[in-house]
Amino acid sequence: MSIDFKAEIVRLKQKLSVTIVAHYYQRDEVFEMADITGDSLELARKCKANESEWVVFCGVGFMGQSVKVIAPHKKVLMPRIACCAMAKMIDGRFFDESVQFMVDNGIAKEDILPITYINSDASVKAKVGEMGGLVCTSSNAYKIIEEGLKSGKKILFVPDRCLGQNFAHSMGLESCVIGDGKDPKECDIICYDGFCSVHQLFSVDDIEFYRQKYPDILIAVHPECDPAVVQAADFSGSTSQLIQYVNGLDENQKVAVGTEYNLVNRMRPKNTYVLSSTKPECPTMNETTLEDLYKTLKSIEDNAPINEIVVDEHTVKWANIALERMLAIK
Ligand code: 13P
Ligand code: SF4
Repeated sequence: MSIDFKAEIVRLKQKLSVTIVAHYYQRDEVFEMADITGDSLELARKCKANESEWVVFCGVGFMGQSVKVIAPHKKVLMPRIACCAMAKMIDGRFFDESVQFMVDNGIAKEDILPITYINSDASVKAKVGEMGGLVCTSSNAYKIIEEGLKSGKKILFVPDRCLGQNFAHSMGLESCVIGDGKDPKECDIICYDGFCSVHQLFSVDDIEFYRQKYPDILIAVHPECDPAVVQAADFSGSTSQLIQYVNGLDENQKVAVGTEYNLVNRMRPKNTYVLSSTKPECPTMNETTLEDLYKTLKSIEDNAPINEIVVDEHTVKWANIALERMLAIK
């Protein structure tokens, strides 16, 4: 007999002290089952405030890890420990090499303030915390960088070069990417060369295509897009900021949105377009299925939890400091 996953998930939710968390990029059927939804920053804040013993996190690895780091007493399970491709581009060794690159170019280690995008492993966040640095998300990067600059230090921004360059541009700051040949001493923000392959799908050609087709259309994109795309767009913002922007438009106003497909698809029933001819699905976000969610909840009921997130004590301590420094900035 086949299992009705949805009905079983509803039953297990009622029985267990569990909170189901889902990022906006999750498949619709998984997203609908969640108690807490949001973008990266909202999820970090809401999970910190949440009181249930178990968290089942539908998202990518660094998100589940962040909950474990913020609330180490909680048991965090992930139906799929899927790794964000961008987060995978940097580890502790590449982080150390980036610091060394700056030192080799005449910037003393004590004059470097590292900021890591939340899309990074806890081990990278811990290294950032140990160096006095902090975490940011796409929602609060402007404020975090603004705060960071008050230290008078050079900012090492990892791992997303686009986010670093886009915020540098919007703040009138000079930036470079490690390896682009620019002198880091001449720059305020030195970016690691990571990127999101999903958000790289959007191009200025896509924007021009839509503007030719619908001259009054607005273009809204995530700041993980290439700087040329962000600068050509009418609006750039994090996942929640994009939702707010689109919801605030007149219902007849056309808008093309440059971010993950699942989110754009459920944003608004009419006049909302995906800014790409290629379906921009995040492969790892899409790994989690209703069946995976059911099996994870069932494992709690059976006292044999699967896919529990474990982070060592040293990493928790320093990654927590880096995350808390971010959460303290309102
Ligand atoms: P948000 O911070 O906007 O949720 O973005 C997370 C992410 O992975 C975007 O690709
Ligand atoms: Fe990572 Fe990009 Fe997927 Fe976001 S969309 S989770 S940055 S791979």
